[in-house]
Amino acid sequence: MKKVPVALDERSYEIIIGRAMYSQMPDILNKVISPGKALLISDSNVFPLYGQKTLDGLYAAGFDATFIVIEPGEGSKTLAQAEKLYTVAIEKRLDRHSLVVALGGGVVGDLAGFVAATYLRGIRFIQIPTTLLAQVDSGVGGKVAVNHSLGKNLIGAFYQPRLVWVELETLLTLPPREYQAGLAEVVKYGAVLDESFFGYLEEHQTCLAARELSVLSEVVSACCRLKANVVTRDERETDYRAVLNFGHTFGHALEAVTGYQYYLHGEAVLVGMILASWTAQKLGKLQYDDIRRLWKMFASVGIKPPPSVTAQAVLEAMEKDKKRETGKLVLIIPTGIGAFERISLDHTDLVSVAVDWYLSGAMEKELDLLAD
Ligand SMILES: NC(=O)c1ccc[n+]([C@@H]2O[C@H](COP(=O)([O-])OP(=O)(O)OC[C@H]3O[C@@H](n4cnc5c(N)ncnc54)[C@H](O)[C@@H]3O)[C@@H](O)[C@H]2O)c1
Ligand SMILES: [Zn+2]
Repeated sequence: MKKVPVALDERSYEIIIGRAMYSQMPDILNKVISPGKALLISDSNVFPLYGQKTLDGLYAAGFDATFIVIEPGEGSKTLAQAEKLYTVAIEKRLDRHSLVVALGGGVVGDLAGFVAATYLRGIRFIQIPTTLLAQVDSGVGGKVAVNHSLGKNLIGAFYQPRLVWVELETLLTLPPREYQAGLAEVVKYGAVLDESFFGYLEEHQTCLAARELSVLSEVVSACCRLKANVVTRDERETDYRAVLNFGHTFGHALEAVTGYQYYLHGEAVLVGMILASWTAQKLGKLQYDDIRRLWKMFASVGIKPPPSVTAQAVLEAMEKDKKRETGKLVLIIPTGIGAFERISLDHTDLVSVAVDWYLSGAMEKELDLLAD
């Protein structure tokens, strides 16, 4: 079992990472949270797999636990769904000392965390992330949110959990496409924050693809450590935390123009990382050898461009995102392996050429050549 601390003064907590840890749940829970009522929130894919074990752990730790199961998928991350959860919380008489437990991927984590942050002005919550993306990213760092019809994650808060419980064996039941998409976020950490971790990923590509738990243990803890460092330095994303948006400026725009139907989030981020590194190279900020290393990590995945999307539409989506966020189009670019720079994107021509390079299919061909 590995423990990664997230140091945030009185909001500090630990991420516990390991396998077959359910028997230790009561001891670990009792160390950080005094028992009371608990509401376990999960979705209908995850609950049948891990719901009972989690409830048993909560009972054994002395919690008076109940549960609610929501529909899987992004469509559940709404205020309407949050309201249903508030109703359950009120009916079950959850009080200021009660606990919300999020068991699932980023959708459940973001939604349950949002409910915990707002119910009675905030009650305790823990994250039990069950997708790779949630274990290395959304489950850690305290961003919680629901979507609005005008945009994703627009209604939310910074609200830290009391504990993040990462049971690695849950990754074994994850659908392959979801697993692959999670790996994109894993590569992101190495690419811009840690060269030696990137080297580890290069060496263990085959074991990672085979979901070897010993390797996943190293990988998930390294990502959690890297994310914890970033969050400790800049919890509310005033500047440094933006490094985690590597690949996301392009990625979010691609997701938006395809109506969130074509890509999984990690897939769009993967394309975004390739486009950001392409841009870095064109600006003379990234060496050819480094871009080769980066793209070799990405090559095996092969992301087909979506049909009937124009570079113009992608650019407009980036503009819209920029207005909503900071008013500036900021791009995180790699300047070496494990190094990055934030650039203000006035070069919209270059961005447009990059997007065209992808949409025309040329990017895929170039990556295929590297893979040979
Ligand atoms: N809060 C943050 O910092 C942050 C960061 C990144 C992403 N997010 C959010 O995370 C969400 C995406 O999260 P996600 O990729 O985990 O998607 P998800 O929660 O939709 O889960 C993906 C699918 O896998 C299923 N699943 C989950 N765990 C499983 C398991 N162990 N075995 C079998 N099936 C399982 C789910 O039911 C779902 O169908 C988005 O809403 C995004 O906005 C938040
Ligand atoms: Zn992401």
